[in-house]
Amino acid sequence: MNIYTQFKILCQKYKLNNKNCKNLWNLIKPICLHPEFKKRNCGPFWHHDCKTLGEHIMCDAIVTYKIICKLKRKKCDFINLRIAIYIAMFHDLYEEPWQNNIKVKSLKNYHCFTHPIEAVANAITWFPEIFQNEQESLMIIDGIMHHMYPLPVRAIDNYALELNNQDKFNQLPEIYKKMIFVSTYVGKVGAFSFRKSFYVEGRIMAKADKIVAMKKDIRSISGYLSLITGKNKKLITKNGD
Ligand SMILES: [Fe+2]
Ligand SMILES: [Fe+2]
Repeated sequence: MNIYTQFKILCQKYKLNNKNCKNLWNLIKPICLHPEFKKRNCGPFWHHDCKTLGEHIMCDAIVTYKIICKLKRKKCDFINLRIAIYIAMFHDLYEEPWQNNIKVKSLKNYHCFTHPIEAVANAITWFPEIFQNEQESLMIIDGIMHHMYPLPVRAIDNYALELNNQDKFNQLPEIYKKMIFVSTYVGKVGAFSFRKSFYVEGRIMAKADKIVAMKKDIRSISGYLSLITGKNKKLITKNGD
């Protein structure tokens, strides 16, 4: 099934009408057709239970879009829809499948705390054209970094982050590294940054992420447990590997 057909099925599932489905597709098409996104739209990139990461991201974009359309009808015209959709499309663009990933890391560098940093590094590397404007970049980066709220994000400090794309992070232009650093410096307690995104676009997207994960994606006890342990026995059984 091609990715546009898959996206249209998800729009139907979330009751997004044809006109809005087309508007949203125009915004996300270049990201969806990127080889790195396509790679994340099939196994072994299972995100929650057996939902692919690509499906999860598209669902988040749809729910973000719906929330913002509703708010705009209530005269909240200041919300930047395009920026919120970019945050949704990039927020979980991490490097490696996380369930049943056996790499040993220190607790503070577990996937749940570090994957937003991996996602920012990948998004800037693969979609540099979207990070040309400084203010927009700040909004997108801060939204991605804090999308797991109320879970904290790993703060950038002098200790190893053990990212799965550490090389890519190291090679980012200094201006982006500074933005990532500042985003985790504010609200920093120990090794973590505890706060919501500064921007409403990021906060809306974080809400959409919870709606999709908790109400639609996760269908089993082992799916919920995997959020804590990183292991999902059911996933192994379902995929037969
Ligand atoms: Fe996430
Ligand atoms: Fe997510």
